[in-house]
Amino acid sequence: MTTYTFECPGCGRRYPGTDTRNRCECGEPLDIIYGKQPHVGRETFDGRFGGRSAVERSGVWRYREMLPAISEASIVTRPEGNTGLYMVGAGEHGGFSGVGEYCAVEWLGLKHEGENPTGSFKDRGMTVGVSRAVEMESVAVACASTGNTSASLASYAAQAGITCFVFIPEGNVALGKLAQTLAYGAITLQVRGDFDRAMALVQQVSAEIGVYLLNSVNPFRIEGQKTIAYEMLQQLGWDAPDWVIVPAGNLGNISAIGKALVEAHAAGLTGKVPRLAAVQAAGANPFYQGYAKGFTQRLEVAADTVATAIKIGAPVSWTRAVRSVRETNGVVSQVTDQEIMEAKAVVDRAGIGCEPASAASVAGLRKLREEGTIGANERVVCVLTGNLMKDPEATVAYHMDDTGEVKSLANRPEVVDDEPDEIREMLASYL
Ligand code: F0G
Repeated sequence: MTTYTFECPGCGRRYPGTDTRNRCECGEPLDIIYGKQPHVGRETFDGRFGGRSAVERSGVWRYREMLPAISEASIVTRPEGNTGLYMVGAGEHGGFSGVGEYCAVEWLGLKHEGENPTGSFKDRGMTVGVSRAVEMESVAVACASTGNTSASLASYAAQAGITCFVFIPEGNVALGKLAQTLAYGAITLQVRGDFDRAMALVQQVSAEIGVYLLNSVNPFRIEGQKTIAYEMLQQLGWDAPDWVIVPAGNLGNISAIGKALVEAHAAGLTGKVPRLAAVQAAGANPFYQGYAKGFTQRLEVAADTVATAIKIGAPVSWTRAVRSVRETNGVVSQVTDQEIMEAKAVVDRAGIGCEPASAASVAGLRKLREEGTIGANERVVCVLTGNLMKDPEATVAYHMDDTGEVKSLANRPEVVDDEPDEIREMLASYL
């Protein structure tokens, strides 16, 4: 673990590592930056497999030299990470058929962050953020959330024995996520308003009453999420892919992965920096619109999409995300709800599965291939951010509701009578 200071990605102002603020005086969320980092080679990380302590087994703390120094006694870990990287390219798909063909790429990896302890990539940020809260002796933590952040924070706060407040938009959180948040014991405020209002409220109120805010505005969250990229690179023997594709909502994750890829290259862990593609839902696309205008303005929209995890109109990590796109020679794309649900059905049918927002990365790849931005032989990794079981309503609606949309993989259940002969005949028709 490494000593650090804070730096504003907007105005460049710096703050000592002992400062407890998340935002700069100018309002931008702060970044963590490192002084002289200890030399770490690939062998340091490769040598840690097989360790027994929770910290050794964590797919976050394994990369601790790339993370802020936090006293080991404060670390709260499940452990998280160690998620699968499924090779599904059309050229080689190890039994997971359909996804590479759907996206028309020969070489494709799906980094499945839905395999984290609470079912999303948020756990990687939360182990670092909650450990920091413990180190600072915070008595309470808070977040606003479209569901996954709240599930993750509620779980880690329960483990740490800290009071947890979550602000969620009423009626706009998928059932699996709401169930987790309640079950883990968070004090849950269903805000009559959208995610962007919940975000504004939690920031105002938590600052006023001294509760530690653990949205991705918090730089420790971003640092933990960097390990998605480190683990993916390690799984590929540190041979960086050409592209990494990430669903984008509040823009914390694209910022984190971009920072990680640049830092991994600077540390000599990889020979190149992959290009990033951020993919937004067309109904929640301020970042896509900003990209199309050369990032000359910061934009907001009234968000609407079936992918409730990324139903966000005023993303907080805008400046950091612009930097990540620029530093990786990246692109921003958008996909419709129908494209998201079709891509999800393809990932699900392969036997892997993900929640709707996650499938934006796969839908985005298909689109970027069609447009010719990505070539058929480029090596691509799509990040699947959340688990299939997070949003059962969306999945069941795809398969069972008749909405008039084209649903090429809809798999309706058959209702049968208590008649063995009829059932035998029906099964035979599939053979
Ligand atoms: N995918 C999933 C499954 C998410 O839950 C989120 C964000 C994203 C993608 C987008 O990541 O916000 O860093 O750009 N979920 C947050 C939450 C907002 O509250 O759970 P981002």
